[in-house]
Amino acid sequence: MNRTASPTWRSRYATNIPSIDAHHQGLFKILRMLVEATQKGQSKTEMNAILTFLEKYTRVHFEGEDAFMARSGFPGAEAHTLEHARFTAQLARLKERFNQGDDRVPGELVPTLSAWLRDHILQQDMALAEHVRAKLPT
Ligand SMILES: [Fe+2]
Ligand SMILES: [Fe+2]
Repeated sequence: MNRTASPTWRSRYATNIPSIDAHHQGLFKILRMLVEATQKGQSKTEMNAILTFLEKYTRVHFEGEDAFMARSGFPGAEAHTLEHARFTAQLARLKERFNQGDDRVPGELVPTLSAWLRDHILQQDMALAEHVRAKLPT
């Protein structure tokens, strides 16, 4: 991802499962909050507050997808959950490095997380959504 580009939800990311799409839009919005905070040179406390919010929001979102996987008997659930765990670990690591004063983190944070989110939505979440739409009545 271009470092200067704003992380934005696009219509090609639509899974057509309203709760999942709303969460994805929320995640991109939090990433934009991080971009803004970085550009404004916000304090460490402010950055941490946003990162903690992102962690919580991510947890709720992943739990939502877990519930869809369970209800629909999604065969790719294990691999999908592992991807979520990788993201959670990556976010925790970035936050830790940020708090240790690694000044490369603000530049890395949003491009890394945005790229993961985009790729995950386009591949894993799309596959899940297709399965859910086929198995569960809407
Ligand atoms: Fe997702
Ligand atoms: Fe997912």
